Amino acid sequence: MQATTTSMLHFYEISPLQNFLWQVRKEGKKIGFVPTMGALHEGHLSLIRRCKQENDVVVCSVFVNPTQFNNPEDLAKYPRTLEKDAQMLEKAGCDILFAPNENVMYPQKTTLNFYFGHLENVMEGKFRKGHFNGVALVVSKLFHIVQPHRAYFGQKDLQQFAIIRTLVQDLMFPVELVRCPIVREANGLAMSSRNQRLNAEQQATASHLYKALKKAETMLAENSVKQIQKSVKEYLLNVRGIELEYFEIADANTLQIVEDLTSFQGDLALCIAAYVAGVRLIDNIVIENFSRK
Ligand code: PAJ
Repeated sequence: MQATTTSMLHFYEISPLQNFLWQVRKEGKKIGFVPTMGALHEGHLSLIRRCKQENDVVVCSVFVNPTQFNNPEDLAKYPRTLEKDAQMLEKAGCDILFAPNENVMYPQKTTLNFYFGHLENVMEGKFRKGHFNGVALVVSKLFHIVQPHRAYFGQKDLQQFAIIRTLVQDLMFPVELVRCPIVREANGLAMSSRNQRLNAEQQATASHLYKALKKAETMLAENSVKQIQKSVKEYLLNVRGIELEYFEIADANTLQIVEDLTSFQGDLALCIAAYVAGVRLIDNIVIENFSRK
């Protein structure tokens, strides 16, 4: 199950990976883990590099997790580029690639259900029913398989990070979570595997999501949430080819929606989701220690 033609080890099954990692742990080495769904880009690689800096052994999983897709077309169209991914991972210094198939990760159908309270009812939770249940399921499985000391996730999926933090706290996974900054294209577009489905013109259109967020940021000091929302909507209405799904201002850690900026103190997140050419994109910016006082 383990190819040895390159210095990065490839595993496709659980037991050989666990046997190998058991040895690593016995030697007192720290294991860092980066879960992904592949179609890797610089955003993913930034996680790998950070993980490499902070741990002795870097494990990356590539698995397009079917249970987190609420749209079958989205799952079918999700890019699968394992060979290229493996090359990129190796170049970035990854030590172990775990690329299981669906039978390995889901040997039997599961009916297990998580409930994450208000996180289910806002933003991604509201518009992608069942999505976070699938994420929590697969991340739990992966944490049990890899048993990392640290695991790395991107701020790009801010709500996913809040979900995983809840999962780790409530189920007492002995893992330290690390949130890494969003890597963007030169035009501001947040890197995403889904961008591969957009041509150059559509990618330029999509970059207006970030521009809308930056515009909203400039309004925070003096405007109400309603005024900022109106302005973001108007801005995007004038960009042909973008269909806004939501724009919300929230507490960056709890993802509680913020309705009154005058009384809010703490890390603030501006979150957006929209469709460009039928592709659903998300982005956010976090303003640390926001306060009007
Ligand atoms: P995926 O979308 O492949 O993303 C893997 C990790 O890369 C996530 O933690 C995500 O936030 C991070 N990431 C994506 N784009 C990024 C960018 N532009 N800058 C920085 N980090 C970025 O998220 C998932 O997969 C899945 O839900 C998963 C956690 C693997 C569970 O299936």
